[in-house]
Amino acid sequence: MTSTPIHFVTGNQAQEALSQCGPMTKAWAKANDFTGKKGQLCLVPGQDGTIKQVLFGLGDDQKAKISPLQAGSLPTKLPVGHYHYDNADKIWNKDDLFIAVLAWHLGAYQFDRYKKSGQQWSELDWPDQIDREEVLLQAKGSNLARDLINIPANDMGPDELEAITKGLADSHGARLTVTKGDALLEHNFPMIHAVGRASTRAPRLLDMIWGEASHPLVTLVGKGVCFDTGGLDLKPSSSMLLMKKDMGGAANVLGLASMIMSANLAVRLRVLIPAVENSVAGNAFRPGDVLQSHKGLTVEIGNTDAEGRLVLADALSLADSEAPDLMVDMATLTGAARIALGPDLPPFYSDDETLVSALNETAKSQHDPLWNMPLWDGYDQNLASDIADVNHISPGGFAGSITAALFLRRFVEQTKSWVHLDIFGWAPKAQPARPKGGEAQGIRALYALIKQRYGTQ
Ligand code: BES
Ligand code: MN
Ligand code: ZN
Repeated sequence: MTSTPIHFVTGNQAQEALSQCGPMTKAWAKANDFTGKKGQLCLVPGQDGTIKQVLFGLGDDQKAKISPLQAGSLPTKLPVGHYHYDNADKIWNKDDLFIAVLAWHLGAYQFDRYKKSGQQWSELDWPDQIDREEVLLQAKGSNLARDLINIPANDMGPDELEAITKGLADSHGARLTVTKGDALLEHNFPMIHAVGRASTRAPRLLDMIWGEASHPLVTLVGKGVCFDTGGLDLKPSSSMLLMKKDMGGAANVLGLASMIMSANLAVRLRVLIPAVENSVAGNAFRPGDVLQSHKGLTVEIGNTDAEGRLVLADALSLADSEAPDLMVDMATLTGAARIALGPDLPPFYSDDETLVSALNETAKSQHDPLWNMPLWDGYDQNLASDIADVNHISPGGFAGSITAALFLRRFVEQTKSWVHLDIFGWAPKAQPARPKGGEAQGIRALYALIKQRYGTQ
């Protein structure tokens, strides 16, 4: 099988790079106005009319370091065939070259469950010294998260989320326990029950355990609101339209769990997913209600659309009672996070400074952007309630993402380090390596952190 070389060209060094490619290529590039602009593609023919070489522009490397994710637009742009990176090792160091290869696999993702495109993408030959298994397990985890978010709520309710989790558990020898419907009340998860009880699809708590009991315990908690109507505080239609993605936290922790188990990291892994649908019916919970919680705190409901923090709180306090070494929760928790930082840069919150620096570091090295935001103690008092231990929203709606994080913190006491990610879980427009639609956010950075911290078995 012939394999066509892809030659990366940076804008400011285009002339020099093209000279190295020979006079034919240089003339062809000039005739086609190829200047090495970001994302620019130029197919160079050989004598027989086949494609001899691909030139791919990366833009100016003087202004900013060139992101290896840019390579992620290649599989969908190129005519179908076999390719290899020609000079990628001259552009990127080994870690970034790994990302440039991963980017190809992330960019080749298609959601074709309901519309068979028949579209085949090109294949990339593996560069030397790239750990293929590692690339594939990271792509698989990320693409799992994307799939689960993209599947609409009619086909991704609590039942289906449970079935997917069971499938993942079975394929890695993990154990899944499910507490469902009224059993949530018997086992003291009143808020998961309250949020999910108005749906015909029963609320539940998924609890997956994997790995040796002697290893340090890492617990992942994901918001699994399969659809968020807002409840009695009903969302307007424009805000409800995308709410199939409100299980994005669950999708992401499952993607992360898949990576951790595939890589056989030396941890005891627990995954908790409150899987519910926030619906409207006569038995729905109401604004002004006071709920009991797993932890024992009474919670006054300010708005039934702030449901995510309620189901998370019950799961977090269960997780916390085991005092895990590390606890990560992920949730499409607030619209405020997106207003503060936009859809591509999820905020994360933690009181553990060491963890904050480590996560900042891996977010950069893995090209999986995250931004630290403060658990600002001064705002905690905004959660005061006249009639209950705590209100779950603050009046005025200031600092909505921070307030939500502070509410969650009330339910975490014994965990050694805890981090909360308020993700968007969705790419509103296509970017290299990030097709439009459901998106994995932060899980490659978290995976790198967990791998660094605990190692492999
Ligand atoms: N799932 C939403 C948050 C959300 C909205 C995430 C849009 C991404 C995009 C969450 O359950 C919610 O509705 N939050 C409310 C809270 C408010 C009522 C305090 C919000 O952010 O508006
Ligand atoms: Mn909501
Ligand atoms: Zn929600």
